[in-house]
Amino acid sequence: AGTVRVDLSGVEPGQRITIKWRGRPVFVWRRSAAAIEAARAVELDDLADSVDSGRENPNQSGEVPARDENRTADADGEWLIVIGVCTHLGCIPLGQDGSAVGEFGGWFCPCHGSHYDTSGRIRKGPAPRNLDIPPYNLGDDLQLVIG
Ligand code: FES
Repeated sequence: AGTVRVDLSGVEPGQRITIKWRGRPVFVWRRSAAAIEAARAVELDDLADSVDSGRENPNQSGEVPARDENRTADADGEWLIVIGVCTHLGCIPLGQDGSAVGEFGGWFCPCHGSHYDTSGRIRKGPAPRNLDIPPYNLGDDLQLVIG
């Protein structure tokens, strides 16, 4: 219980899929080169929440800067996996269907207007924190285990 296994080998570049984990949506995005580049070009000073704690990103040990490199499942940054729950009051942000991605290309929460970037970081609006990252393992064979 609490563990979900998903085969990501059929996910196309640019495609986003949603998985249910412990009753919450997990957003998986096989990002395009442009989305990766946009995420990695952002300076920490431009982030409202520039540090991810170990609870917010359990795949890192302790606090780490909220650089995209620390938030992706692979070193190249093709795979971004985040919990699809707005950190303001818990709505599910839009963007998984590729529309309503907000002003920073990631997700947009329509409840009170929070904009997340292509790394799932809060960039505009009332949400106080970046989208959380679930504990996971992604093997070279693209078998994802969450939890
Ligand atoms: Fe997302 Fe308020 S719940 S902006």
